[in-house]
Amino acid sequence: MEQAFGPIEAAKWEGASAGSDDEDIIPRDIRFGIVENPIRNWFAGDFQKTVLLDGLSIFLPEGERYFIRSLKHYAPKLADKELAAEINGYAVQEAFHTREHMDYNRALTKLGYDVEAMERPVRVGLARDTSPILRLVVTCAIEHLTATLSAVTLRHPELLADAAPSYRRLWMWHALEELEHKAVALDVLKQATPKLSGWKRYFIRVMAMNATLFPFVFITLRNIKIFARTDGIKTGPRFWLRLARLVLISPGYWRRCMPLVLKYYLPWFNPVNKDDAELTRKGRAWLYNEFKNIEAATALRTAGNPPR
Ligand SMILES: [Fe+2]
Ligand SMILES: [Fe+2]
Repeated sequence: MEQAFGPIEAAKWEGASAGSDDEDIIPRDIRFGIVENPIRNWFAGDFQKTVLLDGLSIFLPEGERYFIRSLKHYAPKLADKELAAEINGYAVQEAFHTREHMDYNRALTKLGYDVEAMERPVRVGLARDTSPILRLVVTCAIEHLTATLSAVTLRHPELLADAAPSYRRLWMWHALEELEHKAVALDVLKQATPKLSGWKRYFIRVMAMNATLFPFVFITLRNIKIFARTDGIKTGPRFWLRLARLVLISPGYWRRCMPLVLKYYLPWFNPVNKDDAELTRKGRAWLYNEFKNIEAATALRTAGNPPR
């Protein structure tokens, strides 16, 4: 009977809702059950594809706590109460992301990876930023990077077609919510620095992007080596060439992100200039249907195995 229905889904969405166009930021309390069922090479059975996203997850619990702290610092100081409320929605979304990525990283520990060693440079690097304005511009930069990755993911859900369902759901959910709150940090920067000229504000946000990209790439490459060493995979030229091909050529994750990342360097850049409403609608429908299907499969299973 077990086989006829497939494995039991540990994923759960409290108060599942399709959402409406009137709501911009919707925090969703979803559990993806990854820690209950860690999967090695969950992305198409491919170590390199998997490690690109596992490597990203390493940054997230620490990073997202940092973003929440950055924006919450400014919430009581803002005259615009609507924006203060958006910070609240933002913080709840990021808190759920933190929780699920902590579980994700615990799953990596269960698989034998030294998560503590991989998270250390992230923790140390972020702890160096003690000034609120510095934390805010770094948050703006990273929010733009995550929003870019999210837009690409939602535009091309087929990129995750070969991923294990629990992991695919988590990354699609995260992408959707990053897109929903993509403008909050930059709006806060604008309101929190009324005395700065447009050029000065442009300069500090661009410097923060430059200062963020380099350590991000450096730590990612270092952590990929740790992942590979644990799995006994050699990181010779062939390994790096294939990784570069995945990132830059086919499917070309970074190549697809590049045009949008570079838009951040335009002095007049504003994330709300680009209308992602349709993409958000698509992402919301995808996620809701996914959980409706889980619910239906669970109901079917219960009907087929009535409790004794
Ligand atoms: Fe997030
Ligand atoms: Fe975010």
